[in-house]
Amino acid sequence: MNANNKGVHEVWASRWTFILAATGSAVGLGNIWKFPYITGENGGGAFVLVYLACILLIGIPVMISEVVMGKWGRSSPVHTMHKLVDEVGAPKFWHGIGWLGVIAGVIILSYYSVIAGWALHYFGQAISGNLQGIDGAGANLLFENLLAKPGMLVFYHSLFMLMTMAVVIAGVTRGLGRAVSVLMPVLLVLLVVLLIFSIRLGDFPAAFAYMFAFDFSALTGESILVAMGHAFFTLSIGMGAIMVYGAYMPEHAPIGKTVLTVAAMDTGVALLAGLAIFPLVFASADIEPATGPGLLFVSLPIAFGNIPAGLLFGMLFFLLVTLAAWSSSISLIEPAISWLVETGKGTRLQGGLVFGLLTWLLGLGTVFSFNLFSGPVIGNFNFFELADFLTSSVMLPLGGLLMALFVGWLMNKTILRSELDMDRDRVFYLWYNCLRWVSPLLVLWVFLEGLADILGIRWLSLIELLT
Ligand code: PFF
Repeated sequence: MNANNKGVHEVWASRWTFILAATGSAVGLGNIWKFPYITGENGGGAFVLVYLACILLIGIPVMISEVVMGKWGRSSPVHTMHKLVDEVGAPKFWHGIGWLGVIAGVIILSYYSVIAGWALHYFGQAISGNLQGIDGAGANLLFENLLAKPGMLVFYHSLFMLMTMAVVIAGVTRGLGRAVSVLMPVLLVLLVVLLIFSIRLGDFPAAFAYMFAFDFSALTGESILVAMGHAFFTLSIGMGAIMVYGAYMPEHAPIGKTVLTVAAMDTGVALLAGLAIFPLVFASADIEPATGPGLLFVSLPIAFGNIPAGLLFGMLFFLLVTLAAWSSSISLIEPAISWLVETGKGTRLQGGLVFGLLTWLLGLGTVFSFNLFSGPVIGNFNFFELADFLTSSVMLPLGGLLMALFVGWLMNKTILRSELDMDRDRVFYLWYNCLRWVSPLLVLWVFLEGLADILGIRWLSLIELLT
């Protein structure tokens, strides 16, 4: 380790603190809200398989490299990239990785906060007893009523942004980290409880077959792009959030094992959420798997409205979803804030105010895309869909691709070996070769397939060859 590697930030007490923070960042709306609905929109089974393959072949190798970069640079992603680029003597173009993350974080948080606001609203609905005895049609109506009121959506969006900024400004990540460490296991238990009820109330065999029957004919170029993008989104990689957290990592920590733990927990929560939601969807004539972003909010209330102590469960569930979103949202804005603070141009308070306001304003676009301006902005995408597509399917995979190439091809292998502390040669080379070859080639291929499909360009597609 070189001497100027000691950064301005303190180091976390142990690798468990990193695991907590990284899991807090990874487990969020992506797992509970987004994964089930995009699975439904993309036909189920084969999509899930592609997503799992992307986690394994792209997500985990890239996440390891992102932690290594952060740990080596020990500063915000923008400055870490400056340091690393200087060290390896690469062109300035690579600084772009840091900036890409700052911009992607702001755009993601802008819509993330609107959706977290829905969870806050449903928390209130559960308390006030509005979910009592609700069926599919009632749940649909409740959700449509919420979307139709921009004022209400803005209110909850503002509330969630204030919550996020409060933590970011106070810099009390550790307080939230501790809360999350207690409450995440509760969320897990609750998902298992929900799964049990949903097996009893709903059509579990149909749901299971839907999620795990690998019917490749349902795959399109766009759906594999969405699956890959989601692997990045759900692990919080490709935009520097994990890089910042890696910057606070203690000197000797087994990065590989640590990353595997985080990825396993993240994937587990997503699969559990899917298995709890789809049985209810298949048992209700009023809800389709392809319902879209409202899927979580129209399916689970049916369970809460019809099981013993359902309102209590409902309240607890939406509270925990909000909390999971909260611990993710602070990591979305951290690359921007840490950059500003390091430049000495502003304090956390000023950064929080400026970036918070910017994000909030951008979020209004998402709010209105569910009511006043639901029409397309570009192509078929409305504002929310565009923000989501641009970040999840373009910016994060692009950031991840650049990270894989930078670490795999430009960084010194001996340094990587010592940083990674992997006890076995075989494991190191498995990761190293995956990062140099498999991950970048896969990302590129999926990009090409997705782009060709979206633009309607005909070419010799590998998916067509496979199906
Ligand atoms: N991983 C979070 C989720 O699944 O909800 C979302 C997210 C957080 C994405 C932080 C990117 C990020 F940097």
